[in-house]
Amino acid sequence: MDLIIKHATRLKGTVTVPGDRSICIRALLLASLAAGPTTISGWLESNDTHAALDCMQKLGVVAERGANGTLVIQGRGLHGLVEPEQILNCQSSGTTIRLMSGLMAGQSFLSILSGSAQLRARPMDRVTLPLRQMGAMVWGRAGDRLPPLALRGGDLHGMTYRMPVASAQVKSALLLAGLFAAGPTTVIEPASTRDHTERLMRAMGVEVHSAGSAITLHPPAGDLRSVGEMSIPGDISSAAFFLVAGIIVPQAQLTISQVGVNPTRTGIFDALTAMGASINLIAPHEIGGEPVADLAVRYTTLQAATFSGELIPRAIDEIPILAVAATQARGETIIRDAAELRVKESDRIAAISMELRKMGASIEELADGMVIHGPTSLRGARVHSHGDHRIAMSLAVAALVAQGETTIEDWESVEKTFPGFERLLARLT
Ligand code: S3P
Repeated sequence: MDLIIKHATRLKGTVTVPGDRSICIRALLLASLAAGPTTISGWLESNDTHAALDCMQKLGVVAERGANGTLVIQGRGLHGLVEPEQILNCQSSGTTIRLMSGLMAGQSFLSILSGSAQLRARPMDRVTLPLRQMGAMVWGRAGDRLPPLALRGGDLHGMTYRMPVASAQVKSALLLAGLFAAGPTTVIEPASTRDHTERLMRAMGVEVHSAGSAITLHPPAGDLRSVGEMSIPGDISSAAFFLVAGIIVPQAQLTISQVGVNPTRTGIFDALTAMGASINLIAPHEIGGEPVADLAVRYTTLQAATFSGELIPRAIDEIPILAVAATQARGETIIRDAAELRVKESDRIAAISMELRKMGASIEELADGMVIHGPTSLRGARVHSHGDHRIAMSLAVAALVAQGETTIEDWESVEKTFPGFERLLARLT
């Protein structure tokens, strides 16, 4: 499906973005291990969360939609999952397959994890190697590097693992496996990554300690404690598209309500602030152990800046939209240390560079990032999402400041995390 977006002459109002995809998937997996029911409010209805839910249902978990967009999960306790009769289809969800690998490594039965062609091309050795070191039997295609993955676990022992890449998915997989291991599991991160798994586990009574870059989990003696209700904040990675739109569209003024502002996710705030924007956090509070606030932004002229190091994992999913902002900034924006972008839903360095160039942007690719020269006046063009939700939405924001009309091909990829994005945007323009 193509989406056509016209140059925006206004952008004003308030939006609420859907629930956080990372937290939803974690909440689902962990609630399934609790003794008793959990009502998840703010549950995201999207392809990725549906894939995770389908996997858990195949493991015997009963889940039903409740009132007001809630999802009620009947926990089966720590040792209550049953051997699936079918392949667990993770669709295109990297978070699902990596977190499920950790969970399945803790089970003594056989499970097979697979997904779409896109997912089957993404590296899994980052989880298969350490899970094998913990004692799980794990096989995969291409020398255990690619899905499908087959796992037979149980009998795990905890270990200390120094992650070669800063990855919240790997960390979470190992902590999930650690729930079932004998002895503590310690994961050492090269840079801080999103800590939603740790926060949820702690809320459910699991002993998880952080000391510097090391996170240590002590396996629980029994089922995870049922917290009864879990509230999911709005996804900052979805909010980021409106945030940038509200900064680069002349005269824009936007409020995005109820967004999760966990400091392991707010790299995009730091990046845009360094470029001269001001993001106002209104009414900050906590829901479900996660910091939340309304975000207010307005049109600002941006200056280029350089981004690398510890900021990158805290903004990893926001680099494509940051590149869009950089096309409108004065000077040379440099993004480094972001080679991980090449193994996301698409090669995001190649995809965003290629597509923004079609719109007149001046971008050079680096092995681990990009150099973007700005400001450039973008022009409408026919562009492609590369089957990647974040590329699609980044291009939609670029289209707002481009002269004329932009056609985005393969728009349906946004269903992965943000069904209805285009309707929300249309309401503001
Ligand atoms: C995620 C972690 C990040 C991120 C992805 C979601 C998560 O991936 O890019 O969209 O939910 O843990 P990595 O762990 O591969 O960096």
